[in-house]
Amino acid sequence: MKLRIGVFASHGGSNMQAIIDACSNGIIDGEVCVLISNNSGAYAVERARSAGIPVYHLSGSNYPDANDLDEAMLLVLEKHKVNLVVLAGYMKKIGTQVLKRYRNKILNIHPALLPGYGGPGMFGMNVHRAVIESGDRESGATVHLVNENYDEGGILGQVIVPVRDGDTPEDLAERIIHEEHRLYVETLARISSGSLKI
Ligand code: GRF
Repeated sequence: MKLRIGVFASHGGSNMQAIIDACSNGIIDGEVCVLISNNSGAYAVERARSAGIPVYHLSGSNYPDANDLDEAMLLVLEKHKVNLVVLAGYMKKIGTQVLKRYRNKILNIHPALLPGYGGPGMFGMNVHRAVIESGDRESGATVHLVNENYDEGGILGQVIVPVRDGDTPEDLAERIIHEEHRLYVETLARISSGSLKI
């Protein structure tokens, strides 16, 4: 299936960049058609603009009513004929209309080995801090389907990354983010080639 990817991102967008690059060099059979961000100052916005990808700033600030926001997002995804939604560091919940229309067609990446270290409050450095404090010797990243609950949809792929003695949360984050890029690209490549059915 040729993927028409709609990305949601709130911050740096390094995963989105890896996906854009993998589409242009043919590793993923598809293209990133649109970026939706709740944060107009996100570096992801700049990255998308440099790649000629249309950007929409949709958030509670321009759509105070959650249903209106959800509907506006759905209209953007449909306008750009998106057939797969990719969350890449998106810090908000997806609305019910988008969830319903794109059931099993929304992916997220989480910087730990789900089902551990997921759920509300488990984002960014909080995740890595919790892993280090637990004494676990392994962490990693997980690509999963998105449903109504944070970090609970079906798991599509994981990569294990070692936790080293003396690691700070930042060290671990740095080691994991590179593997995230690889895992997200590989998972999307498998979906586009048909070897992974969702
Ligand atoms: C990643 O660590 C991802 O797992 C999490 O948010 C971060 C996004 O990083 N959901 P980037 O914006 O792709 O650089």
